[in-house]
Amino acid sequence: MALSTLVALACADGVPSVEVERAVVTLPGGGAPALLFLTVRNTGVLPLFLKQLEVEDAGPATIRTETPHRMPMGQPSFEPMATMSAVDSILIPAGRELRLAPGGYTGVVASVARPLVAGETRTVTLRFSRARDVTVRARVATYADLDALLAPERGDATRLDSTPPSVAEGRDLYASDGCAACHGPLGVGDGPVGRTLHPPPRDFRDATAFKNGVDVAAIAQTLATGIPGGGSMPLYAHLTERERRSLALYVISLRSPSPPTSGSTP
Ligand code: HEC
Repeated sequence: MALSTLVALACADGVPSVEVERAVVTLPGGGAPALLFLTVRNTGVLPLFLKQLEVEDAGPATIRTETPHRMPMGQPSFEPMATMSAVDSILIPAGRELRLAPGGYTGVVASVARPLVAGETRTVTLRFSRARDVTVRARVATYADLDALLAPERGDATRLDSTPPSVAEGRDLYASDGCAACHGPLGVGDGPVGRTLHPPPRDFRDATAFKNGVDVAAIAQTLATGIPGGGSMPLYAHLTERERRSLALYVISLRSPSPPTSGSTP
């Protein structure tokens, strides 16, 4: 009895009790779309179903999930990794929060009518089933600035900055995160899994074969948001921007001044 009274009360005006924070829209880059990240907390007593996110002058954002992965070297078979699947609506239980963050749920903003500019803000509308819309302002930023903007605690950003990316860290991550299984131990595209893939993994000696750009920022972005229409190159959105930059530095260190002519360019 007590519960049904509560339900009736809460539904009376349909206003959801939510707090939204750390809303960021990233600029499209390297062929990847603009992405929306934010944290929604259900401060009410009823479950909420988030059914749509809409960015001002950019239309609706599809909510997708990424499945992060770890792939040990030499694993004979592999599952499709970092698959992104569209989600219809997301349940946020009472008292809980939903975080759209790299490596997890992501809002994909498909059609940006008015170009996004870093530093500006856009209104984001959150639509819920059986409850009124909620609007917030989201910051527009580059993907590389995300870590600092989404950092849960103050100090996190400074801690990240105090350790610069390095080739050595990149080499370690290359081994621990399964790059070698596809790209091979020397980065020439001949890993045990890589040999079975079409298109084949990139041979890092040949910078001209890269589709998304060849500098540190571009490669870090490729790892974060993938290759548009690309084959089985997984996303590494769950790593920090520093880790992705370290991997990029390591990839660049494998570049050859005289790459093989029989490259793997499709
Ligand atoms: C499951 C196999 C697989 C794994 C694991 C993998 N890659 Fe790839 N990678 C590919 C394939 C396949 C391509 C080429 C895709 C295409 O041409 O569309 C590629 C392409 C790339 C490119 C080229 C991007 C461009 O602009 O063309 C880079 C850089 C790269 N991978 C880095 C990495 C790094 C670093 C790791 C580990 C953190 C990694 N890859 C893990 C399969 C893999």
